Amino acid sequence: MKTLRLDANKPKDVQLAGELLQAGELVAVPTETVYGLAADASTPEAVAKIFKAKGRPTDHPLITHIGSFEQLSRWAADIPEWVESLTKVFWPGPLTLIFERHSNAPDVITGGLPTIGIRMPAHPVLLGLLRDFNLAIAAPSANPYQKLSPTSAEQVLAGLDGKIAAVLDGGNCAVGTESTILKVGKDRAQILRSGPISAAYLAPYLTVPVVTPKKHQHAVSGNKKKHYQPSARIKILNREQIISNPLPECKTVGAILYSNSLESFRGHHLIQMPSDHQSYRQRFFSALFEMDGKGCDELWIEAPPTDAAWLDIWDRLTRAAQK
Ligand code: TXA
Ligand code: MG
Repeated sequence: MKTLRLDANKPKDVQLAGELLQAGELVAVPTETVYGLAADASTPEAVAKIFKAKGRPTDHPLITHIGSFEQLSRWAADIPEWVESLTKVFWPGPLTLIFERHSNAPDVITGGLPTIGIRMPAHPVLLGLLRDFNLAIAAPSANPYQKLSPTSAEQVLAGLDGKIAAVLDGGNCAVGTESTILKVGKDRAQILRSGPISAAYLAPYLTVPVVTPKKHQHAVSGNKKKHYQPSARIKILNREQIISNPLPECKTVGAILYSNSLESFRGHHLIQMPSDHQSYRQRFFSALFEMDGKGCDELWIEAPPTDAAWLDIWDRLTRAAQK
């Protein structure tokens, strides 16, 4: 299959992306977090194609993306009353909520679970498309199973070219890591995946207690220890170690720093990351892609700060380092 590259700035291309989705095809779409691999959520045969294209096990549930709050009750049941005020603050945005599933929601989306994950994405073009076509899409990140999540159309094509009908190029994703996942209950909420919206940021808007796993627990089904992997082997080191560790022989070594830049690096490639967590997050996956593109065998990544704002980055980093 030839994968079309569509331009999110061209209304004709956006229209075509919507038509392809309606016709049951797979289209990679930009969201504010990472690119999603979308299929019409109402068509189980279309959703099933996602698993084949990604090589993802079929029992891993998918997030359903909606364009308006009114769509929520078509997919979720027993929606706690307190949720509406939360969505008023954080939707559209990088917050996925896990609800009891509505009987309309097909098994292929939920992986047979009694619950369903839903979010309203904040990318303006995607949101417009969902609203104009009155569509809901099931969309995991648009990468082959266990590989890096893409934050640009090029990165989507690097993994899925020829396996999907089209990619809608909406530029680089503004946020850069996947949404925070919050399981909502009648009288409590639980963070299942750390993300750009931290527990501390959520807390003032919650009228129920939020439970956060102390360390990242792999509470999310399909949230494997080994994930987000580049080809290079990753070592998380402190700055001193990056400066002085002996270089392994016959290996191409890249370093990713967040604190002040080195004048020069004894290894082969160096990426200087921004030191504030938001800009770092935005660059994170693309830096790993870039180092893979340079043919690095080993990546020395400077351990970022350990405060709560960096929790999602630590989560992605430690799983990328897992062999
Ligand atoms: O930002 C994001 O969330 C991106 C963009 C495309 O929206 N999507 C994304 O999807 O990261 P994916 O499939 O790569 O990760 C979704 C995670 C998986 O770990 C899955 O197990 C979990 O959400 N999930 C989905 N439905 C669930 C449910 N009902 N209960 C528990 N976990 C669920
Ligand atoms: Mg993913």
